[in-house]
Amino acid sequence: MTRPPSFQLRYTMVGGKLRAQGYDQKNTIDIPVEWAFGAGDQAVTFVTRIDEDWYLEHHHTWYSAISKMAPTAGHDALAPKTLAEAIGLPYKTTDPQTGILGCFECHSTGPVRITADRTLQPTEHGVRCEACHGAGAGHIANPSRKNIDNPKRLSPTALNTACGRCHRPPASNGAAIDWNYAWNVRHQPVYLSQSACFTKSKGKLSCLTCHDPHTPLNRSLASYNQRCAACHAKPKHSAGEARTNCVDCHMPAVTPQPPLRFTNHWIGVYGNGAKLRPR
Ligand code: HEC
Ligand code: HEC
Ligand code: HEC
Ligand code: HEC
Ligand code: HEC
Ligand code: HEC
Repeated sequence: MTRPPSFQLRYTMVGGKLRAQGYDQKNTIDIPVEWAFGAGDQAVTFVTRIDEDWYLEHHHTWYSAISKMAPTAGHDALAPKTLAEAIGLPYKTTDPQTGILGCFECHSTGPVRITADRTLQPTEHGVRCEACHGAGAGHIANPSRKNIDNPKRLSPTALNTACGRCHRPPASNGAAIDWNYAWNVRHQPVYLSQSACFTKSKGKLSCLTCHDPHTPLNRSLASYNQRCAACHAKPKHSAGEARTNCVDCHMPAVTPQPPLRFTNHWIGVYGNGAKLRPR
């Protein structure tokens, strides 16, 4: 019988910089943590450049809901056989499908520069003003409402596409979406665009009906009741049913991998226990 491999991993500050250190019976790995992705609303994932062709997505992610490290999104099913695999998953630098460049593009603002030795350099870290309002140099030189993009002017369908640049846009006609795959629920524009509330409200329902992108997500589910009430003053419910918040039943929470939690934006009537697709 061979025993499963055992690895010791730890994240420590050395001289003010975070390092990932790993040991097994024979080997040691000690690498800097160069990038931390995510504002930390749910999670922060670490990334390190290996060489010009590869970046490493660390296997350990910080989760705010549990205040500790746990496997990175999608890594929970991996069973590492070597110390290198236990530290993380290598990503090609610029592969169009799976390249780490994609992480940088959605998690930074402005163009991502690729240097001669293929190091990725974002213009500005995180999702900042110009990610939604476009380049603002002309506006700063000569402030006017006319020379800056204002997403308020976009239709709900155009907002699905604009916010969907990062949150994923609704599929083009005919493209198949696997509605049984729980991870897809994190693509809010895709799901919202399926809702009768969206398709039958003549362009009155958009991301901005429920969210202000300049303030943190409102975590009080009761606060959304009034959004629904704007269009559903007296919903027809069969008598006797316990009534909690509208969102509890009509926008169920989905957990593709604990402790991550997403909200099903396909507003609808869900069968008993169903969370992925309305009946
Ligand atoms: C440049 C990519 C990008 C664009 C464009 C974008 N988002 Fe986001 N959004 C993110 C990322 C990344 C996060 C996760 C938090 C973080 O790391 O900044 C996020 C988080 C959020 C959250 C959750 C915030 C929280 O406090 O948990 C909401 C709500 C949201 N975005 C709505 C929108 C809306 C509405 C639009 C369009 C007006 C939009 N986003 C456009 C990338 C983007
Ligand atoms: C197509 C755009 C896109 C790509 C590519 C992408 N992300 Fe994100 N990421 C988002 C958006 C939008 C959110 C916020 C909504 C959500 O959690 O799904 C997010 C959320 C996150 C969060 C949680 C942030 C928080 O505040 O809770 C982490 C961590 C993260 N991404 C890391 C990564 C890493 C690492 C990669 C590359 C392996 C990556 N992302 C690739 C768009 C993207
Ligand atoms: C995630 C996308 C997003 C980001 C990031 C963002 N905004 Fe906005 N901004 C919007 C949207 C959407 C609206 C329209 C909101 C509405 O009317 O409900 C808006 C509206 C505004 C307005 C009001 C415009 C008017 O017509 O009165 C100002 C000013 C503004 N944003 C400034 C900023 C600044 C400054 C930052 C950076 C600190 C920023 N925004 C970051 C999406 C964003
Ligand atoms: C901008 C208006 C608007 C808002 C806001 C809105 N809805 Fe709707 N909703 C509609 C319309 C229009 C329909 C379609 C009614 C019909 O089929 O005649 C609908 C349909 C529904 C249905 C039936 C779904 C189906 O597939 O038949 C449910 C359930 C529902 N809404 C719940 C909600 C909840 C819960 C909220 C708040 C989270 C909400 N709606 C917010 C306009 C809205
Ligand atoms: C009818 C109201 C409503 C609309 C419209 C809506 N959202 Fe949400 N959204 C919610 C609620 C409710 C939550 C969960 C809040 C919580 O977790 O406490 C949420 C959560 C989120 C989150 C956090 C991750 C998650 O899935 O829980 C993101 C990101 C987000 N919405 C983006 C969007 C985007 C982008 C749009 C437009 C395509 C949109 N939302 C339209 C009600 C709405
Ligand atoms: C305990 C779960 C639950 C809660 C909470 C709930 N609903 Fe419903 N809702 C249902 C079910 C189940 C149906 C299907 C009809 C039925 O059996 O009552 C329904 C049907 C609907 C419909 C379609 C029927 C119609 O009126 O056209 C709308 C709209 C709706 N609900 C809106 C709301 C709103 C708005 C709230 C919050 C004030 C809410 N619901 C709270 C379970 C719930």
